[in-house]
Amino acid sequence: MKTVQDYIRTIPDFPHEGIMFRDVTTLFADPRGFRMAIDQLLHPYAGQPIDRVVGLEARGFILGGAIAHQLSVGFVPIRKKGKLPAKTIEQAYTLEYGEAVVEIHDDALQPGERVLMVDDLLATGGTAEAGIKLIERLGAVVTGCAFIIDLPELGGRAKLEELGMDVHALCA
Ligand code: PRP
Ligand code: ADE
Repeated sequence: MKTVQDYIRTIPDFPHEGIMFRDVTTLFADPRGFRMAIDQLLHPYAGQPIDRVVGLEARGFILGGAIAHQLSVGFVPIRKKGKLPAKTIEQAYTLEYGEAVVEIHDDALQPGERVLMVDDLLATGGTAEAGIKLIERLGAVVTGCAFIIDLPELGGRAKLEELGMDVHALCA
């Protein structure tokens, strides 16, 4: 039987030379693969109270929407700077191939809400750390960080675990 990893392809030198880009569009496009990924991402949180799912732009939106629907909770996006229409708070970060700023609407989460944060891939952890900071600045609590792919050699998992995060990933 195919595993989640079997549906993901690697594109060398995208978007820059030397980057081995993990392309999850082939996983998302396959009905069995996509369902398997959503089910496996949710598995560690069975029975845990989760009030909101937060997804990181852009592939975290695809996963986060499906997971929020499955849990019957709301979905909140963290977006690249300049995309959210209402009042936001922002956080700068560096990633494997550049620098960026992410934002969340300042009324998107309530203090004390328990958040599952999701994205497709954990590399340096810069994006996820910025997401955690935004969620915590609104007074909400990150109860879990779920990813399809973890690239542990880039240090993201260690960074998030140092912050006390519960990190789950489906494959490396
Ligand atoms: C990718 C990926 C994560 C992030 C991980 O997104 O989807 O969000 O990089 O890298 P990090 O752990 O080093 O921060 P990308 O920045 O390419 O943005 P996109 O999904 O909007 O294309
Ligand atoms: N984001 C950061 N590094 C990445 C990689 N190797 N593949 C896909 N997305 C990424």
